[in-house]
Amino acid sequence: MAASSGYPALAELKGRDFLSSTDSSAEQTAALLQLAADLKAGRTRIDLAGRTLGLIFRKASTRTRVSFTVAMARLGGQTIDLNPQVSQVGRGEPVADTARVLSRYVDALAIRTFAQEELADYAHWASVPVINALTDLEHPCQALADYLTLQEAFGEIGGLTLAYVGDGNNVAHSLMLCGALLGVNVRVGCPQGYAPDAAVLEQSRQLAAPGCSIEVVHEPVEAVRGAHALYTDVWASMGQEDEKAAREAAFRGWCLNEELLAEADARAIVLHCLPAYRGLEISAGAMEGSSSRIFDQAENRLHAQQALLAALLGGV
Ligand code: CP
Ligand code: NVA
Repeated sequence: MAASSGYPALAELKGRDFLSSTDSSAEQTAALLQLAADLKAGRTRIDLAGRTLGLIFRKASTRTRVSFTVAMARLGGQTIDLNPQVSQVGRGEPVADTARVLSRYVDALAIRTFAQEELADYAHWASVPVINALTDLEHPCQALADYLTLQEAFGEIGGLTLAYVGDGNNVAHSLMLCGALLGVNVRVGCPQGYAPDAAVLEQSRQLAAPGCSIEVVHEPVEAVRGAHALYTDVWASMGQEDEKAAREAAFRGWCLNEELLAEADARAIVLHCLPAYRGLEISAGAMEGSSSRIFDQAENRLHAQQALLAALLGGV
């Protein structure tokens, strides 16, 4: 097993922030997936000994928190949990102060919060890389793991179609942007009124290579027909708890189930970022069936984030 050196596209990511899927170029995104696959297969190794990642999570998390912690441990570094309940973040210490102080201690910060603007504010004041661990607008680390999972299933992913059925939310946004960079057609199917952000849709279309389409449709079968991956996420995201009942009514008929799967490509895989509500956005059968790659996808958070940390911290 050799130490890594063969990812020249990643050199420019050293010291940079990862606030959006668009913070890595098409070539860098493909290289991150390659490094993640190589790390997973044990073909390369990265050494981040002595480096520390700070985690500031203002929303709940199982996968993101644990996968970042284990990723740093596997690379020889460590993590410190600065969750708002135990740090002064919860008592309202200004971002400008927190970010500058923490930059004196840690080598990078992974932040989960509500507004993308707050994340950008951290990045402005911090002198170390800031990573988006989910905001209301984007979930770019999730998208890296998702496309790694698609790549494992199909090999070359350019030209494939991923159908996302459900709310046009943070997860959908990063799938659109990252898909555009990787040449994957992304078809978002959602009820009227729950479409992705218009600016993100426009940005995705501008990023897309010729021949790659990013579409929004309002009928479930139209969304999934012939697709190579069917993806869904919760109908009410963190922060939308009050809308749960209204959303369940609006999304009736939008469950990712075996009937929808039958309309997709015969090789199609089923994905969900988790946590999931069986019987609402996804059926138990689709989730546990032979097409599901949902638990590989969850594992891939670990590998994709190791690649990202290696690039941002200059370990490649
Ligand atoms: N998919 C995901 O981000 O899960 P967590 O909320 O558990 O981190
Ligand atoms: N859209 C969901 C994703 C959870 C990982 C949320 O923001 O709650």
